[in-house]
Amino acid sequence: MQNEHESQNELSRRGFLKGALLGGAALTLSPTMATAQQMLTGSTSVRDIRSIGLAPGRVDLSLNENPNGPSIRAIQAAADNLTGVNRYTRDSRDLEYSVVEALADYDGVTLNKVEPASSRSPILSPYILTYMGSSQFLKILPIAYLSREGGDVVDVLGGYTSIQRTALAVKEEFGVPIDVTSVPLTSDYRHDLPAMLKAVTPKTRMVVITNPNNPTGTLLSYEEIEAFVKAVPKDVIVVIDEAYIHFGRDVDYQRAVPLAIAHDNVIVVRTFSKGYGLAGIRMGYSVCSQAIQDKLRFYMSAGFPPVLPLSAALESVKDLNHLNRSREMVWAFHDRCYEVFDRMGVEYLPGQGNFFMVNVGRDGDEFVREMFKERVKVAARNRDTQPTWIRVSAGTAPETEVFLNVFQKLMIKS
Ligand SMILES: Cc1ncc(COP(=O)(O)O)c(C=O)c1O
Repeated sequence: MQNEHESQNELSRRGFLKGALLGGAALTLSPTMATAQQMLTGSTSVRDIRSIGLAPGRVDLSLNENPNGPSIRAIQAAADNLTGVNRYTRDSRDLEYSVVEALADYDGVTLNKVEPASSRSPILSPYILTYMGSSQFLKILPIAYLSREGGDVVDVLGGYTSIQRTALAVKEEFGVPIDVTSVPLTSDYRHDLPAMLKAVTPKTRMVVITNPNNPTGTLLSYEEIEAFVKAVPKDVIVVIDEAYIHFGRDVDYQRAVPLAIAHDNVIVVRTFSKGYGLAGIRMGYSVCSQAIQDKLRFYMSAGFPPVLPLSAALESVKDLNHLNRSREMVWAFHDRCYEVFDRMGVEYLPGQGNFFMVNVGRDGDEFVREMFKERVKVAARNRDTQPTWIRVSAGTAPETEVFLNVFQKLMIKS
């Protein structure tokens, strides 16, 4: 006699096979499909999916994490440094400088070594500033620039809302005049840079460009951004958030760093959470002028930079093979999903990050809840402008199959 759990497993296993057939998979399960099936039925053991870091039977594609995990070299470096964490790690300044040098090398930036203004200053080099995760930095920016006298922000309607939200919180908290203009995306879900430029007034203090955009995944060209930067008044801070820039399909794509070197008012924001798979260790950095760094100095964390994130970051930047494998895994995910969507006739936005948006044709929030019941977590984003779309983050090959299976089942049901 089967117990209830076993019979449910049996049902979902049969459902999976049906779904796999819909997805065009062969009846004999490949190792990917077999793992996907185990995950779907909850029969995967912790050991099977240890490297994925999920509870058995759950697939989390909701937070734009790196399905490839961190670089082994990064894990090793952090582990090697764990034994010394009873110390204040006074020599971590040298480690920080090594990270800055490696990052400069990655983006072709020339550094002049400058001594920190004081032993407690986080400033180590012109241009590159490291910190613990870009969320913290994106919060500090409006506080630093707007909390004294206020000032307006130009951002998009349909993007990453961190700076907008903090700016409005600063307005409340400090009682200063702040207006946020959220410029609608174009009909193909890109930043409308001409409209954003028109929205800039003498009161504007900050403009935000997320590139690739989250959640639409659209990518602006260097030339488009450069023309925009040149047209914006020099006293307006232009924040270019390149959180997902490492995943872009075009390996020759020109990133925005030269703009931050050439223009004192431009900040390029990066994170180690995405391309480098270090979301849990909290590490980010920015490329920006000395003037901006001086302005932010007061708001940045004081003391010695933390050695675990720095050591993991240093090895991650050097491990280009790992970065490439992460990109490949992400593009395999995109390709596989689009192949199924094309067959189903489903509308999607082929993003340039480790995620995409897909139109489910009914309330996105409800669809997310239904997927969650099937143990697959995805996200509803842009509820105001794209209420029938969901955002799906990249998974491993088995996770992708689980997602597709549940997705097809729910789409057919509706
Ligand atoms: C566009 C964008 N910027 C910044 C972040 C924050 O990243 P971090 O993990 O460095 O705080 C995210 C996280 O999802 C993001 O999507």
